[in-house]
Amino acid sequence: MILPLLALAAPAYAVSAVDSFYPPNIEDLSWITNGSLGTYGGLYSAPASAASEPSPYGAYDYCSMPHPRAQEYVLPAPVQNGSVKAQLVYLEYLQRHQRRTPYNILPGGENEEYHCDDILPYLYAGPASSTAQQPLRVYAKTYSDPANPFLDDYVNGTCQYPQLTIGGLLDGYQHGRDLWAVYGDRLGFLPRTPEDGRRVWFRSSSSALTQDSAGGVLRGLWPHYSGAVPLHQQAASVDTVNEGYSCAAEDTVLDAIEASDEWEAHLAATASLRDDLATMFDANTSAWMSTYDHFSDNFQARLCNGYELPCSRANLSECVTQAQAEEIFRAGDWMWDYWYRASANATSYITLLEGLFIGEIVNRLQAVADSKGEQTLQYSHNFIHDGDIGPVLGALGIKALRWPGMGSNIAFEIWKTEDDLFSRVLYSGHPLQTTHGMLEWVSLADLIAILQPFVPDDIITLCNA
Ligand SMILES: *[C@@H]1O[C@H](CO)[C@@H](O)[C@H](O)[C@H]1NC(C)=O
Ligand SMILES: *[C@@H]1O[C@H](CO)[C@@H](O)[C@H](O)[C@H]1NC(C)=O
Ligand SMILES: *[C@@H]1O[C@H](CO)[C@@H](O)[C@H](O)[C@H]1NC(C)=O
Ligand SMILES: *[C@@H]1O[C@H](CO)[C@@H](O)[C@H](O)[C@H]1NC(C)=O
Ligand SMILES: *[C@@H]1O[C@H](CO)[C@@H](O)[C@H](O)[C@H]1NC(C)=O
Ligand SMILES: *[C@@H]1O[C@H](CO)[C@@H](O)[C@H](O)[C@H]1NC(C)=O
Repeated sequence: MILPLLALAAPAYAVSAVDSFYPPNIEDLSWITNGSLGTYGGLYSAPASAASEPSPYGAYDYCSMPHPRAQEYVLPAPVQNGSVKAQLVYLEYLQRHQRRTPYNILPGGENEEYHCDDILPYLYAGPASSTAQQPLRVYAKTYSDPANPFLDDYVNGTCQYPQLTIGGLLDGYQHGRDLWAVYGDRLGFLPRTPEDGRRVWFRSSSSALTQDSAGGVLRGLWPHYSGAVPLHQQAASVDTVNEGYSCAAEDTVLDAIEASDEWEAHLAATASLRDDLATMFDANTSAWMSTYDHFSDNFQARLCNGYELPCSRANLSECVTQAQAEEIFRAGDWMWDYWYRASANATSYITLLEGLFIGEIVNRLQAVADSKGEQTLQYSHNFIHDGDIGPVLGALGIKALRWPGMGSNIAFEIWKTEDDLFSRVLYSGHPLQTTHGMLEWVSLADLIAILQPFVPDDIITLCNA
């Protein structure tokens, strides 16, 4: 019998969309080294100047992670089947920014330019008084000056690194429209306008990436609102998200995590891949070799914005292969899982890194509990980073943690029944699978009890310990 050609390309295993979030062997070195795993159902591509194609719902789509969407949204199981009557009373929403250019430019420079002329990052500030004179609206226009000698080993083009791309902005609009379709139209929960600052709260990190994403997502939610809304931020040096405050113990614990036998073994298992890339890109430095962060970031940003994988500038026919990129991505997944879940030091790492922010969430959830769902604040939306989403998922006890992709999101829904409060936690649109079971219908008190141990009593002392 002759097999059709297509059958040869089919993977040796079948991964359902949701399962692509939870590789059972993510802790094993074979997760990294077994090339036949490919992307394990993950998707790593998105067009340059258009919104992402909606992926098979629930699939791990690094460039544009799924989010609650009306076509697939279902009420919590006991509400859906009518055994319980309940009403949504609070939504705490966390999301990573949408897709962007990379943080990390290859050490010898890049073979392909990046262009961002199709998005205008506005920059102006105005007086608080609306009757005072308003500023001229200016936007950033990045350019490359050929007389700048440092450009030779960097990258030509018209972007900042990182910055939101037009694809990321368009994905943000869709993200917001989809949230409105669920929580606005369908559940009648969100307010018609975002202007009542007692009912809604928006927060970002101090990074342009999250702020620019907020403008896109909130426009999708409220397409006709003509006013401005406050995007709350803490001062960058003490911010409780995006590693704002400095904490010596956090560095000590991360060093311990990255000095473990498991960590060494994962580096050893991938030594030849690292040698190949070090040679191709003159990247034999600790920044590029000690973790898979930089290569992952560099390749993801290319593929997520309609570009090709990079080639060596010393030999343009020597390019990163799809198989190499996939191994880097699996190594990146292993690393995220190890930092926030598998490592013996994960709990203390999460506490030091994210405990204050988790505490802010717990306080808001506790306010819902204290008022029996009658609190004024209904909707809190936080625009943050992968480095915030990962530890929060770790704290929730996620069963396996792949690198949280662009726009990845956690929705804490709080439902009120006649006499109690329940929670459901959705990760990228699906009930979160955790070591505590599926977070589908858990009493609010139990959810708070899951998170509370990660909230430090005295972070200053812990950090200085
Ligand atoms: C590699 O992964 C495939 C697909 O899951 C599996 O069938 C195979 O046994 C794995 N090989 C090794 C050496 O782990
Ligand atoms: C409704 O769903 C819940 C949760 O899955 C289940 O425990 C319960 O038995 C179901 N009730 C009915 C009437 O189907
Ligand atoms: C950048 O573009 C200029 C003008 O096209 C070109 O001369 C230069 O070689 C390019 N540099 C890099 C690093 O690609
Ligand atoms: C990391 O965890 C190990 C094992 O529990 C422990 O002995 C060590 O003290 C921890 N290191 C730090 C810096 O917390
Ligand atoms: C990278 O540098 C280390 C230490 O200097 C050296 O042992 C190793 O051979 C280098 N690897 C490559 C691929 O150049
Ligand atoms: C450039 O890379 C290609 C593909 O790896 C290789 O065949 C070729 O020999 C290389 N050229 C030089 C000059 O090293």
